[in-house]
Amino acid sequence: MKKVSEEIYRRIDNNIYNLEGNRWWQPGFSLNLIRTLYNPFRVEYSKNIFEKFKINPEKTSVLEVGCGGGLLSEEIARMGFITTGIDPSEQSLNSAVIHARESNLKINYVKGTGENLPFQKSSLDVVLCCDVLEHVHDLPKVISEISRVLKAGGLFIYDTFNRTYFSKISVIKILQEWKQWAIMPPDLHVWEMFIKPDEIISLLAENQFTWKEHRGIKPDISYLRMLNNLHRRAKGELTYEEFGKKFRMVESNSTQIMYIGYAVKSFPL
Ligand SMILES: C[S@@+](CC[C@H](N)C(=O)[O-])C[C@H]1O[C@@H](n2cnc3c(N)ncnc32)[C@H](O)[C@@H]1O
Repeated sequence: MKKVSEEIYRRIDNNIYNLEGNRWWQPGFSLNLIRTLYNPFRVEYSKNIFEKFKINPEKTSVLEVGCGGGLLSEEIARMGFITTGIDPSEQSLNSAVIHARESNLKINYVKGTGENLPFQKSSLDVVLCCDVLEHVHDLPKVISEISRVLKAGGLFIYDTFNRTYFSKISVIKILQEWKQWAIMPPDLHVWEMFIKPDEIISLLAENQFTWKEHRGIKPDISYLRMLNNLHRRAKGELTYEEFGKKFRMVESNSTQIMYIGYAVKSFPL
């Protein structure tokens, strides 16, 4: 798999994280939906893996790649892990630093990209990368960098969007483009940058990882109710906060739209 072309990468608007950088923690804004809708599921999923591998948080370093305003990094720090977050958006990082200070949490926030991680080889125990891989210019480089900084036996946990007909309709058309339902900016995601599970499995294998599993992610309400909630939000009848209380993301048998998974960095032969 190659990095995405310049022409496709130009179409994604990652600048939203600069413009709305101070809005991560405000319930009235769309970025905060990650906290209410996605985080409970991701945190539970990660906790189960940490328990399975009998990980002691106090002795374990975790890096969140693409940490934004720190919504997930704070959950990790609260579990007791030695936590670092990295993101290219200075505005998002400012918001993360201020909120961590207010919450009395010790988190090391660093400016940078997944393609060029400013950390030593084999220096970290766990890397999390959630809702980020479909935003990066050079996915193969990001996976190779994550592999480089992880210790042998280290864990890589990620979630992202699949590139299918269903994700094109649901994420691109309904959530971003079709005005009667769209609640996200039209260029927030670019369908061609979504990643098929087999593509990530191949990249992991090429980068000294043993891939373990993928699980689908879906809302815990029917798609009809979801469309109704989206329509009410699009018309302004629901605030983002009210919308975010209508459902949660949960595990699904289908990886057609979103999926979460993990891999273990292999020991050298
Ligand atoms: C949808 S947000 C996810 C934030 C966070 N992971 C969470 O779940 O709360 C995507 C983030 O990826 C960051 N990002 C974009 N390009 C990146 C890159 N090349 N390397 C690392 N992060 C990147 C953006 O600045 C933004 O904060």
